[in-house]
Amino acid sequence: MSSQLEKIQELIAKREQARLGGGEKAIAKQHERGKYTARERIAQLLDEGSFEELDMFVTHRCHNFGQEKKSFLGDGVVTGYGTIEGRLVYVFAQDFTVFGGSLSETMALKICKIMDLAMEMGAPVIGLNDSGGARIQEGINALAGYAEIFQRNILASGVIPQISAILGPCAGGAVYSPALTDFTIMAKGISYMFLTGPKVVKTVTGEDVTQEDLGGATVHATKSGVAHFAAEDGEEAIKIVRKLFSYIPSNNLEDAPATECNDPIDRTEDLLNEIVPESPNRPYDMYQVIGAIVDNGEFLEIQRDYAKNIIIGFARFNGRSVGIVANQPKVLAGVLDSNASRKGARFVRFCDAFNIPLVTLVDVPGFLPGTGQEYNGVILHGAKLLYAYGEATVPKVTVTLRKSYGGSHIVMSCKQLRGDMNYAWPSAEIAVMGGAGAVEVLYAKEAKASDDPAKVLKEKEAEYNELFCNPYNAAKYGYIDDIIEPRNTRFRVIRALQQLATKRVTNPAKKHGNIPL
Ligand code: HXC
Repeated sequence: MSSQLEKIQELIAKREQARLGGGEKAIAKQHERGKYTARERIAQLLDEGSFEELDMFVTHRCHNFGQEKKSFLGDGVVTGYGTIEGRLVYVFAQDFTVFGGSLSETMALKICKIMDLAMEMGAPVIGLNDSGGARIQEGINALAGYAEIFQRNILASGVIPQISAILGPCAGGAVYSPALTDFTIMAKGISYMFLTGPKVVKTVTGEDVTQEDLGGATVHATKSGVAHFAAEDGEEAIKIVRKLFSYIPSNNLEDAPATECNDPIDRTEDLLNEIVPESPNRPYDMYQVIGAIVDNGEFLEIQRDYAKNIIIGFARFNGRSVGIVANQPKVLAGVLDSNASRKGARFVRFCDAFNIPLVTLVDVPGFLPGTGQEYNGVILHGAKLLYAYGEATVPKVTVTLRKSYGGSHIVMSCKQLRGDMNYAWPSAEIAVMGGAGAVEVLYAKEAKASDDPAKVLKEKEAEYNELFCNPYNAAKYGYIDDIIEPRNTRFRVIRALQQLATKRVTNPAKKHGNIPL
C-alpha cells in the first residue's frame, strides 16, 4: 500500500473512532438510559446527509487526575453545521458517552467556534444538551469555558435565534446557557435542569426532593416557566425544534420564511359570530377563535401549560408567520397576572427582535388583585408586557373580542402603544372598568341612602354599560380603527397584515432601554 493510501486509511480509522465517542459500551449505556447519542440526535435534527462536522479531532488538554491517559477524539461534544428544510443551522450536541458530556476547556472552544460562525453567517444555533456540568478535573478552565459560551449567548441574543433542547442532565451554572437562549425544549423522563441537585437541597434546606420533582420537564413547563415545551421524549423534542424553526427567520435582518397558503384568505367562520356568550361572566375557549382564523387551524403553542390565562404561539396568516398573544377567558377569566405578563412580554420581545408581526386577541377583565400578586411584584411584571408592546416596531394588529378594561386594555397592544390596526367585535367592552365595579365607586352613597340600594346600583350599571361597555365609544375617538363582524376576522387580519408588510418604524437611538426586569 502506498504511503498516501495508508494515510487515507489512518484518517478513515480515526474518523470511525471519533464517531464512537466514548466507545461502544458507553453508547450501549446511553441507549439503556433511554437516550440517543449526540450523533443520532443530530441525524434526527438535520436534513438527511446535510451535516458537516467540525473539530472531530479536538481532544482535551487536561493533565490533572490522570486525564492525560484518558482522552477521546472530539471530546464531549459534536459540533458542525447542516440544514433544516434546506436552511443553514449550526448545531452542537453534547456527548454524554465522553465524561458524561461534561464541559472541558476545549469543548467550550468547539461550541464557541460554531457560535461565532453562526453570528457571521446569520444562522441560528441549536444546542442539544446532555451534560454533567463543568468537567470537574479541569477546574477553573471549565468555568472559563462556560463564561465564554454565555458571553456569546448574550451577544447573539436578538441577532440570531438560539434554541436549546435539554435531553439529559443540565445542572449547576450550566443551566444559564439555555436560559439565555430564546427557546428551551425539555424531554419528559430524561431531562432535568436545576442550579443545585437534590443532595445539596437536602443539606441546605432539609427538603427531600427527587430530580424529577426538582427540575424535570413537567416542573419547568408548568411551575417555573423555564421550559417552553415539554416533549414526550427526546425524539419529539427534536421534532419540535424543527417545527419551531419553520416559523422564525434565520436572523434579525430577515423575514420568516413564507409558505404557500392553500387556506382561502377570505374564509369566513360563522362560529365566531356566536362564540361570545350573552352573559359577560361566561367563558368561551380562545383556542377555538385562534383555530378558526389562522391558516389551516395550525398553531404552535409556546408554554402551553404555564400561565394558561394567556396564550402565546406561532401561526400563519396567508403563509406568513405571526406571533399570537391572546387572553384565555376559560382560565381565571383571562385576567393578567405576574406570570402571564412575563410570559407574554418575553414572547412579544422575541417576535419584535425577529420581525414577526404580532396579532393580539383581547378579552381581559383586568389585572388580578390581591396581596399575592402585589407582594410578588405584579406592578413590575405587568410593566414588562406594557414595555414590550410599546417598544415593539413590528406590525401590530389587535382584535378586541369582549372585555378590555383599565390598565389591561392599555397593556394589550392598544392604539396608543402604537397598535397599527386595532379592531373590535361588536361584543367588545372597552372601558375603564366593568359596570358593576364602576357603579359601586360612583354611586355607593346614593345606594346607601335609598330604600332599595340593589335597584339603584342595577339601574346605574345599566346606564354605565349602555354608555361605556361597547366598542363604539372607543371607535368614536379613533382608538378603534374599525368594528368588524366576527366571522370576517381572518380576512380583516390578513388585509391588515398585507397593508403593514412594509412598515418601517424606529425607536430613538440609545444604548438600550431599561425594561423593568
Ligand atoms: C467529569 C463527569 C462529570 C463531571 C459526570 N462525569 N459528570 N466527569 N466531570 N462534571 C462522568 C462520570 O464520572 C462517569 O464517568 C460518566 O461521566 C457518566 O456519569 P455517571 O455518573 O455514570 O452517569 P449517571 O449515573 O447517569 O449520572 C449523571 C450525573 C452524575 C447525574 C450527571 O454523573 C453527576 O452527578 N455528575 C456530577 C454533576 C456535577 O456535580 N457537576 C459539576 C457541577 S458544577 P465514567 O468514567 O465512570 O464513565 C458546575 C459548575 C458550572 O457544573 C458553572 C457554570 C457557570
